[in-house]
This record gives sequence, structure tokens and C-alpha cells, in this order.
Amino acid sequence: MRELSLHILDIAQNSIKADAECLRIVVIEDIEADKLTIKIKDDGTGMDSDTVKKVIDPFYTTRTTRKVGLGIPLFKTSAEACDGFFEPPPQSGVGTEITAVFRHSHIDRVPLGNMPETIVTIINACDKMDLVYTHTYNQQSFTLNTKEIKKLLDGVSINNIDVITWLREYITEGLNEIVK
Ligand SMILES: Nc1ncnc2c1ncn2[C@@H]1O[C@H](COP(=O)(O)OP(=O)(O)O)[C@@H](O)[C@H]1O
Ligand SMILES: [Mg+2]
Repeated sequence: MRELSLHILDIAQNSIKADAECLRIVVIEDIEADKLTIKIKDDGTGMDSDTVKKVIDPFYTTRTTRKVGLGIPLFKTSAEACDGFFEPPPQSGVGTEITAVFRHSHIDRVPLGNMPETIVTIINACDKMDLVYTHTYNQQSFTLNTKEIKKLLDGVSINNIDVITWLREYITEGLNEIVK
């Protein structure tokens, strides 16, 4: 994929399908160590051992509409093509966790892409699910927790157009602050 955020969006869609109540997205940019880590964790249905075994096989998917599940294999391939590695999800009755690590400066490492838009899209796709997004750049961190935002909204839907516009700006500013 042309941007890592598209992988994040794709993997997050799996969590929504798995009925997750809380999704955690962690991005760590460690420039000194030359590492970019992306971790996506949910508390959905989890995967049994058979699914875990097959999940990194591009010809496997539990969906019947399309024979080929490519989301996870593509993410794995991207990381491995950038001197990185991929941690497949553990077998679990509850929840799934996927980690991909890239060499930050690798010539083939595609840009992170538009994270504010990606996060807002995930929130819009599933307002029932809580999302905790933490982005660390060297020593600085930004966190968005929709559970806390929902409390502040006092009944107003997080999908409200004004709220979404505000969220997009809030994330953009937060990320600008940490890379300064
Ligand atoms: N977060 C998750 N929780 C539970 N099962 C998952 C999760 N992510 C992926 N899976 C399982 O792994 C399969 C492969 O996922 P993926 O590679 O994204 O392909 P696709 O979504 O097209 O099926 C899914 O069909 C699903 O059965
Ligand atoms: Mg998928």
C-alpha cells in the first residue's frame, strides 16, 4: 500500500468485524533507533489456533464473499521489506494484537500517511467502539481516547459533523506538537 495509514485502516476494520469494544492503535517513531512500530490491539472475538496459523497465508480468509484475505499478509510483507518484522497475533479467545516494525529510514518504507483522517474514519465507521490512539515521536507523545471525549460530549454523538471536524484538527495539532 502507498501509505502505512491504509494498513492501519484495513487492520482496524478486522477489529470492527470482530466486535471489539476497544481498539488501541500505537505508533512509535524512534528516530535514534531508526524504528517505526505500529501496534494494533483489540478486545474482539480473537482468533483460534487454526485462524492464527492461516492468517499470514494470503490464500486464507474466513469471509465467503472473497477467497483471499490480504490485509494481514500485506502488512507483514511491508514490514519485512523494510528491514523490519511482523509479530503475528497470538491465539486467543479474547482479543487480537498485531505488531509491525519498520526501519524508519528504509528507502522502501512508504510514508505514514494521513493519520488524523484515518483515525476520524475509524471513529466514524464504528461509534460504539472506543479508540485509544497513542503516537510517540522520540520522547514526545500524543494520546486520543474516545472514551474520555465521549464523556466530555455529554450525550452529543461523536459522529456529529462538528465533533468530527474538531477531532481532525485536534489530532493534527497534537501530532504537529510532538514532531516539533
Ligand atoms: N482483529 C481480529 N479479530 C478476530 N479475527 C481476525 C482479526 N483480524 C483478522 N481476523 C481473522 O483473520 C482473517 C484474515 O484477515 P485479513 O488478512 O485482514 O483478511 P480479510 O479481512 O479480507 O478476511 C479474517 O477473515 C478473520 O477471520
Ligand atoms: Mg481484513
